[in-house]
Amino acid sequence: MAKILIPYGTTEGQTARIADYISDVLQAHGHEAETLDLKHADHDLPDGYDGVIVGASIHAGKHEGYVADFVRRNREALEKLHAALFSVSMSADADPEEAQKYVAEFEDATGWRPAKVALFGGALLYTEYGFLKRMLMKKIVSSQGSTDTDTGRDYIYTEWDGVRRFAEEFVADLERKPAGE
Ligand SMILES: Cc1cc2nc3c(=O)[nH]c(=O)nc-3n(C[C@H](O)[C@H](O)[C@H](O)COP(=O)(O)O)c2cc1C
Repeated sequence: MAKILIPYGTTEGQTARIADYISDVLQAHGHEAETLDLKHADHDLPDGYDGVIVGASIHAGKHEGYVADFVRRNREALEKLHAALFSVSMSADADPEEAQKYVAEFEDATGWRPAKVALFGGALLYTEYGFLKRMLMKKIVSSQGSTDTDTGRDYIYTEWDGVRRFAEEFVADLERKPAGE
């Protein structure tokens, strides 16, 4: 049984949902998994984990700064562990090249080059946004030629099967080649 930490950043909650889902998949496979919301403290990576899956979402072209800070502070420890990154954005669904660019910028900014990276579609949560954010997102979305502009509902782009496969591949790799070997 492996012990895996899932530290994440989230602004509207979709990355937290994905982190919880990954944790559930890992536990269903008999592993110990915990999520850690990085927003509220200057966390350092605790000892005792076999693997780490870092998650962050994109706003205005950038991942949460506090996730980048966490990765910079803990880069050496991350490099010694079996570690992966998942990046949540609209572009992961609509424009994967752009989503890949966000990750390349994150890697340059933090100096961390995770062996495994996943790009997951996020969500447009019109019903939860305040007025200005709702109007801004509707404008951006329609300027991109999308028809997902009904602000009376939400749009979820996360493909949960892909998230499950990512989590399963992560533990399969970990079982095959534990960190340090
Ligand atoms: C104000 C705002 C700005 C956003 N900017 C981008 C962006 O520049 N590129 C992109 O691909 N997605 C963008 N998104 C989409 C988010 O990445 C998506 O909603 C994601 O699900 C947010 O994850 P979170 O709920 O964990 O914060 C933006 C969303 C909001 C609300």
